[in-house]
Amino acid sequence: MCGIVGYIGKQKASAIILEGLKRLEYRGYDSAGIAIQKNGRFEVAKKAGRVEGLIKSTPALKISGTSGIGHTRWATHGGVTDANAHTHLSSDGKFALIHNGIIENYAGIKKFLLTKGYTFQSETDTEVLCNLIAYHYQKEPATTEGSRFLECVRKTLRHIEGAYGIAVMCSDCPAEIVSARKGSPLILGVGDNEYMLASDVAAIISRTQNVVYLKDGEILHLTARDFSISTLEAEDVSPVIDRVTWSIEDTDLNGSAHFMEKEIFEQPAALENTMRGRFAEDGSTANFGGLNISPVDFRQIDRFHFLACGSAWHACLVAEHLIERFARVPVEVDYSSEFRYRNTPLGKNALFFVVSQSGETIDTLAAMREAKRKGYMVLAVNNVVGSTIARESAGGIYQHVGPEIGVASTKAFTSQLLVGAMLALYIGRMRDMSFSDGVEYVNALKGVPDIVRRTLEQAPHIREIAKRYAHYHDFLFLGRLSLFPVALEGALKLKEVSYIHAEGYPAAEMKHGPIALISENCPSVFLVPSGEMFTKVVSSMQEIKARKGRIIAIATEGCELPEGVADEVISIPACHEAVLPIVATIPMQLLSYYIAVELKRDVDKPRNLAKSVTVE
Ligand code: G6P
Repeated sequence: MCGIVGYIGKQKASAIILEGLKRLEYRGYDSAGIAIQKNGRFEVAKKAGRVEGLIKSTPALKISGTSGIGHTRWATHGGVTDANAHTHLSSDGKFALIHNGIIENYAGIKKFLLTKGYTFQSETDTEVLCNLIAYHYQKEPATTEGSRFLECVRKTLRHIEGAYGIAVMCSDCPAEIVSARKGSPLILGVGDNEYMLASDVAAIISRTQNVVYLKDGEILHLTARDFSISTLEAEDVSPVIDRVTWSIEDTDLNGSAHFMEKEIFEQPAALENTMRGRFAEDGSTANFGGLNISPVDFRQIDRFHFLACGSAWHACLVAEHLIERFARVPVEVDYSSEFRYRNTPLGKNALFFVVSQSGETIDTLAAMREAKRKGYMVLAVNNVVGSTIARESAGGIYQHVGPEIGVASTKAFTSQLLVGAMLALYIGRMRDMSFSDGVEYVNALKGVPDIVRRTLEQAPHIREIAKRYAHYHDFLFLGRLSLFPVALEGALKLKEVSYIHAEGYPAAEMKHGPIALISENCPSVFLVPSGEMFTKVVSSMQEIKARKGRIIAIATEGCELPEGVADEVISIPACHEAVLPIVATIPMQLLSYYIAVELKRDVDKPRNLAKSVTVE
């Protein structure tokens, strides 16, 4: 939620910051703003709406200062207005500040500052930060200006409760930026005679691949020549500079109309990357280098807990099904936000997995900390290398699917399904799964990229279906067993990108309520696999048909659907049970995407959503 960018160097800062903001818009896109510092003066431009709108409407951006900060907002405190957009200035005009997060104790601080004569122009929680810095600065004896600025930010942050990633400039200290984080992500890009700070690597990758990942409670002090990192307690931190493996091309559309389209069609390669190097030499099980728990200890685990939000939660539900089915070990899946506040009884030998594409989702991070506090080992399944969740976990599995920019998760979701399937294999082979079943399972997983590629060939057919169904206002998505969470994901995808109401349900459970919605105006998308569930699912389809409901069936190739039971059929290749959820997801992604395109929705930036939810 919210993206922050800062630049300090020799180039004109505004163009670089705006480019960075465009690449961070997936984090929030209600409003955007920028502040450039020149000759001890701030030039601020901010506006409700997208970064593009800010660029078009603001002549101030032509200014030539070489340091500045910028922000793209996902509103929490205060509506989507120009005044609430960041950058915010302290009422004495000395400090300019951007913020990602929520200041929980802002009301008390604001009350205090009002008594001291400070004024407020916005309804945001953020504005108290710059005024509190100004208050401390004005009280602090004037020693060397640079350290006085830094120390006042440090002092201010000690009074702050909540989450923040901030960047601040002081008009007394041209060419300096102080930045800090607690709960919200912050990285530093170390370029050629220049530095950039940002919420995410995407904002800086066009200028440098050298990155320092800041930790919670760390403060960054940037000048045009160097940088230093210290803690809230003023201890020096030795920075570790990492090299990012992906490049700017990975964050471009490269000819696709939308990132969602690009990322859907990238799935064969993305899934290949998730699997690469992760099968044992004997070809009968999976191999994970980063779990940091010995197979002997892992074998002792008698219950797994999975925590996640959004699509990642659906992936966990599929993992639950596969692990219980193939490894016969109980699995509990919780929404991260619920787990934090529930007092779930937990077994002695339990192990936690947190699943998060971004590795920054605040609820998942907090749930993970809660599990750790209770003394449990927590492993992470995560895509963004160096994310907070990755760093705070005891170990884990990187997804390696490259940056996912579309707000609605696609390739990261199927990659999480694949990781879940590989975990089921790994745990299963430690228990009752035979060598030959393991080999069969591994071969099925190795075939995933190809089978997904074949499924994607259905795109033109699905596009035609989407055109015929885009005008409906309600949809049901129905599936059973491991395909029930896939139905949930199908409904979520449609809601997210097309704003059409959709519900996912276990196919047979539909009789207990949702069937009341059925009429010729509420189509159902059925997931119809071959095998033991086939006749059961077909019976549910008949019940819908008897009530004049239209049906889109996503059915295994070769299944003999009774005449007239489906209005549309999308075929998916026959495959292993562990692979089926991945394959069944693809047509639903395409259906949602094409319906959204048909409705001219803002596919990559759906209203009200943000990709990385860093507020509770
Ligand atoms: C947001 C995104 C979803 C995502 C969820 C969890 O709601 O829009 O696509 O599934 O966050 O994100 P995470 O990064 O933790 O997987």
